[in-house]
Amino acid sequence: MPKTGTTARPAPSKKSTAKPAAAAPTAASIKPSAAAPASKTSGLEIKDNRTGKNYNVSVVEGAIRATELKKIKTDDPDDTGLLSYDPAFLNTASCRSAITYIDGDKGILRYRGYPIEQLAENATFLEVAWLLRHGELPNQQEYDQFVHDITFHTYVHENFRKFLEGFRYDAHPMAMLNSSIAGLASFYPTARNIFDETERNISIVRLLAKTPTIAAFSYRHVKGLPFVYPDNRLSYVENFLSMVARMSESKYEANPVFARALEILFILHADHEQNCSTNAVRAVGSSHVDPFSAVSAGVAALFGPLHGGANEQVLRMINEIGSVKNVPKFIESVKSGEGGRLMGFGHRVYKSYDPRAKIVKKLADEVFKVVGVDKDLEIALELERIALSDEYFTSRKLYPNVDFYTGLIYRSMAFPTDFFTVLFAIGRMPGWLAQWEEMLLDKEQKIARPRQIYIGPPERPYRSKLKAKQSL
Ligand code: CMC
Repeated sequence: MPKTGTTARPAPSKKSTAKPAAAAPTAASIKPSAAAPASKTSGLEIKDNRTGKNYNVSVVEGAIRATELKKIKTDDPDDTGLLSYDPAFLNTASCRSAITYIDGDKGILRYRGYPIEQLAENATFLEVAWLLRHGELPNQQEYDQFVHDITFHTYVHENFRKFLEGFRYDAHPMAMLNSSIAGLASFYPTARNIFDETERNISIVRLLAKTPTIAAFSYRHVKGLPFVYPDNRLSYVENFLSMVARMSESKYEANPVFARALEILFILHADHEQNCSTNAVRAVGSSHVDPFSAVSAGVAALFGPLHGGANEQVLRMINEIGSVKNVPKFIESVKSGEGGRLMGFGHRVYKSYDPRAKIVKKLADEVFKVVGVDKDLEIALELERIALSDEYFTSRKLYPNVDFYTGLIYRSMAFPTDFFTVLFAIGRMPGWLAQWEEMLLDKEQKIARPRQIYIGPPERPYRSKLKAKQSL
């Protein structure tokens, strides 16, 4: 089982440089040494059994710098120093961030210090978007200006119609969103000036404003419906619903319960610190590419079924189960490994109930009051009941995550299943952008470039296995 991953809590400590110490008796493993003089270092004393050398490694904010390990070397001239090996970043912090705090064991999620429960209850999505980027809640003037800017950048270039019309009738909307967001880079070439604050501002506004438009246009394209242009009289969420659902009404009026539910879901998805898609945005952005290209990498990562694509897979799984009476058999197939994973369960960092899932479950009740109980809710509840009392799931700390109930809400609002992850992407956009900018302005960040442990063949001479040499 992977160790619970959470935001690391800073542990204050004096800075010191790792340096080789005198040879000492052997030790079985790398561990803090009680003999390390507190005045010299408040970090680790590492004893290298291979050489008998001792090293002091500083611990700052609860972490060691992996580059300090480079100093730990054998006498072999080819030894470039000790590496840390951490596939999938199970215990490696890739950045220092002031945006989102998670305590996975306690089920805590905060944006810039504010508990997610309070933001979901009281804030608007655009207020949260501002908060994530700027670190403080907007005052009235800042908020009004921000809402105005977003509202007046919702239109996309008319060429986008042709671009979207080029997709097949059954194109997955996440594939359309991903390539469309990357395509925006071709419309705004000056966005490449990423160290110009004005350019960053307008790019961020454009991405927040145009993502719902592109998402809605993708929906209409798949449905074979005419595109509905943005309506500046409506709020962010109402405008999105209008572009999705409006037919011949002169003024679209969204169901207020749906509009608020969607706004809360966007807030819940707005950021989640260093998850797969955010890591993708930061890594791609670290090459100093434009933000449209960097964020499209995030959309691509989100598409995967282990990440944002899980909400779509939950619904497909429930459809396959078909009825409450089949749930025990399905759970057994998950446990034996034959039935795949229980989608919507488990999380890399939450080893207790996902705080977002609690809010979503409550929200589902409110939406179902309006549209009636979803026919698959019974199956979902039974899955949850059995899984939460089954040793397989409890021993692995697998609890419902945010995706378990969101699909049921989206479907009750009549969104098609393959559109669910697009809704997640609209919500996550402010987080990707805040994280992208934080990475960019962090003087410590460089182009992301992990190391590897080479396990392939040693040098060998080329001998062609082709029958006849093809002309090059
Ligand atoms: N159903 C059954 N078994 C599971 C599940 C699951 N959903 N998730 C993890 N396990 C088992 C896994 O087989 C392993 O068992 P063992 O120790 O016997 O090999 C153990 O639990 C640990 O699994 P892991 O893959 O090492 O855990 P991870 O932290 O690397 O993976 C996860 C996290 C979210 C990818 C995984 O729990 C999963 O695949 N869940 C289903 C997909 C899903 O719902 N994803 C949405 C995540 S929340 C939204 C978001 O932020 O993207």
